[in-house]
Amino acid sequence: SSSDSDSGSGSGGNALVSPSGAAVAAAEKKRTGTGRQQQLTLTAAPAVIDLGGGVTPRTWAFDGRTPGKEVRLSVGDTLVAEVSNQLPDRTATSIHWHGIALRDDMDGVPPTTQTAVRAGSTFTYRFIADAPGTYFFHPHVGVQLDRGLYAPLIVEDPKETLDHDDEWVVLLDDWVDGVTGTPDEVFAELKQGMGGMDMGGMDMGGAKFMLMGAESDLLGGDAGDVKYPYHLVNGRVATDPDVYTGKPGTKVRLRIVNAGGDTAYRVALGGHRLTVTHTDGFPVRHREVDALLVGMGERYDVLVTLGDGVFPLVALAEGKDANGLALVRTGSGSAPKATVRPKELDGVITTASQLRAADDVRLESAKTDVTHRIELTGGMDKYNWAINGTPFDMNDTEANPILIEEGQRVRLDFVNDTDMWHPMHLHGHTYQLGASGPRKDTSIVLPRKKLSVFFDADNPGQWMLHCHNAYHGEAGMMANVAYR
Ligand code: C2O
Ligand code: CU
Repeated sequence: SSSDSDSGSGSGGNALVSPSGAAVAAAEKKRTGTGRQQQLTLTAAPAVIDLGGGVTPRTWAFDGRTPGKEVRLSVGDTLVAEVSNQLPDRTATSIHWHGIALRDDMDGVPPTTQTAVRAGSTFTYRFIADAPGTYFFHPHVGVQLDRGLYAPLIVEDPKETLDHDDEWVVLLDDWVDGVTGTPDEVFAELKQGMGGMDMGGMDMGGAKFMLMGAESDLLGGDAGDVKYPYHLVNGRVATDPDVYTGKPGTKVRLRIVNAGGDTAYRVALGGHRLTVTHTDGFPVRHREVDALLVGMGERYDVLVTLGDGVFPLVALAEGKDANGLALVRTGSGSAPKATVRPKELDGVITTASQLRAADDVRLESAKTDVTHRIELTGGMDKYNWAINGTPFDMNDTEANPILIEEGQRVRLDFVNDTDMWHPMHLHGHTYQLGASGPRKDTSIVLPRKKLSVFFDADNPGQWMLHCHNAYHGEAGMMANVAYR
């Protein structure tokens, strides 16, 4: 219906015209809506949240909880979400609907596609969810997602034939506790020069020190005796986990989302193998695996048929020797220790590149109109993460765009020139890994490796391409993909 293509509005009131406004409108017409609307309000505000186990940090959250309340739509429905910014200290915010190919003025990326939502004001997002799948949402300002501002977004397909009895959303997060300032302040300190930092100094602020520790761990360094203190599954610490209760034999669809800012997880369910069915919302040829590597911003749907007993769902933090935990309870038995390591974690850890797109969503890679080389550059010493050597400039966000044209089949060659790996996320589109790999919008590019992806330029506008390590992205490993 025509009202579905109305643009959102904010109390700021300024309509934004992107350079390709007419093309955006044309692309929007192609989206077929059901005409149904779901309306909600999301209030971003300081809150004391309960992570279980007596852990009750004061942080920022949507409607007083982390994760925020799940949003669930049917494909074709219009979401009308009013965000009310009650954050302190004149902190502006936005919401990015991670993975959804919507119109760019609803994509939540200030200042490129909207004006940031000022403290004390509201903004209404309105878009048609035109592809089913597992998504999440978070602010696209600073590293606000790392304070707990995130929630799952599920788009159901009423026509889907996937055989299952129930589902369980599994949201992973690395928790930076004890942050006195905001992560944005932490980040500012990081950017000012990690190189000259005295690792032993106690006056540097706990949070920065923790981030250092986490990053050092990823590098395999030994400075990592200070770590993210908690890894959360569905907002619960491992000593007081979330529990899925069901009957033996139930076929459950797990929708696994990594909302962490700085941590990839190896995910396994003790006593079970996982059948992978979707990557970032798109179907793959089903594949049974022991465990999955889930990078920041990635999502996997898997099926499991539950055994009889009590089973640990473990999210092992990559390089950090710590884990998140949830439990599946279908029978009697005692709960495992919080640090349990199911043997499935010793099996093959499957990554996206080992999967294949389902036949009906596979792109033919033979036809490529243009190739862009996306070099991932920088290092820990200077914390100068960038794309093609130029850090993204938040004050000049349209500089150095990667230019594409509507109708092109675009190939991106990610070339990782660094010793860390980077989950690279493209807004507004899904790409395919290689000639027959899965469709995704976020994929890990391993150190010193190359990854080629393909997508159809079918959604005119301006779109971010960035590392979903929140700190790398903010440091400048981000670029603007713009339609000519
Ligand atoms: Cu989930 Cu540009 O981000
Ligand atoms: Cu990165």
